[in-house]
Amino acid sequence: MSSSRDKPVEEILRLKRELNAVILAHNYQPAEVQEIADFVGDSLELSIEAMRTDAKVIVFAGVDFMAEQAKILNPDKIVLIPDVQARCHMANMLTPEMVRKAREKFSKPIVLYVNTLASCKALADYICTSANVVDVVSRIDSDEVILGPDANLAAYASWRTGKVVHPLPENGHCYVHKLFRPEPVLELKRKLEEEQGSGKVVFIAHPECDLDVLKIADHVGSTSQMVRYVKNVHGKVVIFATEVDMIHRLRRESPDNVYVPANSWAYCIYMKQHSLEKILRCLREKRYVVELDRAVIKKSQEAIMRTFELLGMLDKLGLRK
Ligand code: 13P
Ligand code: SF4
Repeated sequence: MSSSRDKPVEEILRLKRELNAVILAHNYQPAEVQEIADFVGDSLELSIEAMRTDAKVIVFAGVDFMAEQAKILNPDKIVLIPDVQARCHMANMLTPEMVRKAREKFSKPIVLYVNTLASCKALADYICTSANVVDVVSRIDSDEVILGPDANLAAYASWRTGKVVHPLPENGHCYVHKLFRPEPVLELKRKLEEEQGSGKVVFIAHPECDLDVLKIADHVGSTSQMVRYVKNVHGKVVIFATEVDMIHRLRRESPDNVYVPANSWAYCIYMKQHSLEKILRCLREKRYVVELDRAVIKKSQEAIMRTFELLGMLDKLGLRK
């Protein structure tokens, strides 16, 4: 017997087949959204999945810049976002005007984090994600680069590559990842080690955290790199410094560890704008449609392809012309 809770799920699955739609969800989505998604991943994986899909309609359960990225890579497909209030706080800290001014003032390569709006991406030399930022910055033929909008990601890239990485703007940040501090993490780790035994507790962190937090981590990586890391860790307590709903993916993929949020208030309100009911409405009413200017799409695609070329990924992704 199906419960009323199953109803949106059944209807979503039926409409998905009828429209030839695919649902892509970010790792921070609520558990119920992750469960009905065709693919769950980090920003890089979701971009690659958006390029690979044969579906006619992409429903993007993530924030604005992610849905825009799917549209940039699939200009002829219909890309829908269930709620337009899902706007990344950090992405909206950078404007095209700031990028233009930085280009005029410093003649350095401009790397923009995927967490930027398409209007900014169109002005970038390269687009990185948290999964490949170190690789991108180290391969650029310059000892100095500009990186925005996350000043923490810029500091992380500089630490790992030894290059000078200028943040644009000075103080761009994610309010969720600013909630972590080293002292409470060390205190939590000490307490858990007292209970579980030494060597039983590991700490993993997202590169959007402050550098002093990253420096005490056993592993730093994007959300999906965290998933891969914990697959090789067994029977441990894993303290994680990123958005709290990351726990669902970690538990599902590697259930033999115990997961403890480094701060249970680390909740991205923007990611939580989506729900099963809104996804259902999105499929029924085909809204909200992500639309971008053709010139912005073309210039953004160029920056993305230049990055794939820099990373030697064009052949692997079947993108060489
Ligand atoms: P990931 O690419 O690691 O999933 O990060 C995206 C993001 O917005 C983190 O806050
Ligand atoms: Fe943006 Fe931060 Fe939310 Fe990630 S967690 S989507 S960077 S506001």
